[in-house]
Amino acid sequence: MEGESRRSPQSPPEGNGRRVSRRRFVKGVAALGAPLFLGKFAGGQGTIVSANQKRLAALGGPRAVPRGLQKGWPLITEEDKAAVMKVLERGVLWGTDAPETAALEKEWAEFIGTKHCIATNGGTAALHMGVAAAGIEPGDEVITCAYSWFASASCIIHHNGIPVFVDIQPRTFNIDPAKIEEKITPKSRAIIPVHLFGLPADMDEISAIAKKHNLIVIEDACQSHGAMYKGKRAGNLADMGTFSLNGTKNLPGGEGGLFNTNSDLYADRAEALRMFGEIEHIPHFRGRGFSEFGWNYRTQEFTAAFTRARIKRLDAENAVRQENAAYLTKHLGEIRGVIPAYVPSDRTHVYHMYRIRLDPAALGLSIDPRTFRARVQKALNAEGVPIGGWKGSPIPSHNLFKLKAGYGKGCPWSCPHAGKEIVYREEDYPETLRMLDDSFCMTSALYPPNGVELMEHYVNAFEKVFADMDQLMKVSA
Ligand SMILES: Cc1ncc(COP(=O)(O)O)c(C=O)c1O
Repeated sequence: MEGESRRSPQSPPEGNGRRVSRRRFVKGVAALGAPLFLGKFAGGQGTIVSANQKRLAALGGPRAVPRGLQKGWPLITEEDKAAVMKVLERGVLWGTDAPETAALEKEWAEFIGTKHCIATNGGTAALHMGVAAAGIEPGDEVITCAYSWFASASCIIHHNGIPVFVDIQPRTFNIDPAKIEEKITPKSRAIIPVHLFGLPADMDEISAIAKKHNLIVIEDACQSHGAMYKGKRAGNLADMGTFSLNGTKNLPGGEGGLFNTNSDLYADRAEALRMFGEIEHIPHFRGRGFSEFGWNYRTQEFTAAFTRARIKRLDAENAVRQENAAYLTKHLGEIRGVIPAYVPSDRTHVYHMYRIRLDPAALGLSIDPRTFRARVQKALNAEGVPIGGWKGSPIPSHNLFKLKAGYGKGCPWSCPHAGKEIVYREEDYPETLRMLDDSFCMTSALYPPNGVELMEHYVNAFEKVFADMDQLMKVSA
């Protein structure tokens, strides 16, 4: 991700390099008798920056965030190492019934609260298993969110289905349920809501629409391990739930995925897809051999063992993210022009990413939001805040969709079973485009072992950048 370093820089801190609390930072400056500058744009507690410290780092001033404070993700413990060592000592490296894989499936099903869990080799594989289990056939349409990781849509094409996109809700950044029904056609078969950045989508509204139109719902919970919606875990809010174990995720396993469901039928169909379509041993299909089409989506014992060790700490690690995010939300919300992450009261956010919007109009500036965001981002990066854009365009704006590249010869869109032609145009997703223009994200900066002390530095940097718009406007966009 732009502006985001996954490893902490090793160079020594700049300036005095000490960790200081926001209160101590401000008091220390005052005690030195330095001329005080009350930020004209910062609201709330007000911002006090000493004359020599107020110069933006992007313009040659000192960094607000000392170098080397942010720790990288994932932090690997002795317990993690022992879990992987045990696999080597045992010598069993793979197998759908191998001990670590079987235990991971049992423990993750219990954690999420579903009857079944099937471990697989990626979140994309888990999503594809969901699409296959939903019975998607060539030409069937599946609705998903216009803004997500590409796999939330490519999993549909993997099974010759046709993705149909819905714009985001501007506060949660998740699929807007109010815009789903207008996309439903006689070809619609399923919805894949994404719990983006760690926040569950509006599942009650989505489930009601799905029930009304007889659609199957597959949660893309690849970024929301452990998040809750009305007291239930993400991944247990619909027909099927899917997770990624990619090393950047809140539950990292290196690479891997998890598929959850309460349905015996969906579990059996997903299992068939995972195993080459070899369905002889699967209760729903017993005796029919290789009569299904399948892939090899099995995972391996190292991933399973490592992931099991991490499940035990997932809630505690998410609690650190939540504490860090609460600090940012409180203090960034006091800065005019900054709109922190929003969480509806009926769900929890596990902050795989923390997205911040900017509102230049609230500062009395008439400036293109994209230019303003670029200036702020550059200024914050120079101050030492690891902020970046993540995916910079709506999924349907990519060539795969615009040119219908797919499998070649226009497939799957040209399939005789497809409905009326679908045109993908990025301007059809104005809320996504607006969000991309005026916002940016923080990711592993909020992850443990990073704590509130680091967040204080980040808030100081925001306050410094927003304290003087004349300076900020000198930063090139
Ligand atoms: C929202 C979302 N869906 C799906 C995926 C795909 O997961 P994987 O990379 O494990 O295949 C990801 C992973 O980045 C994701 O963030």
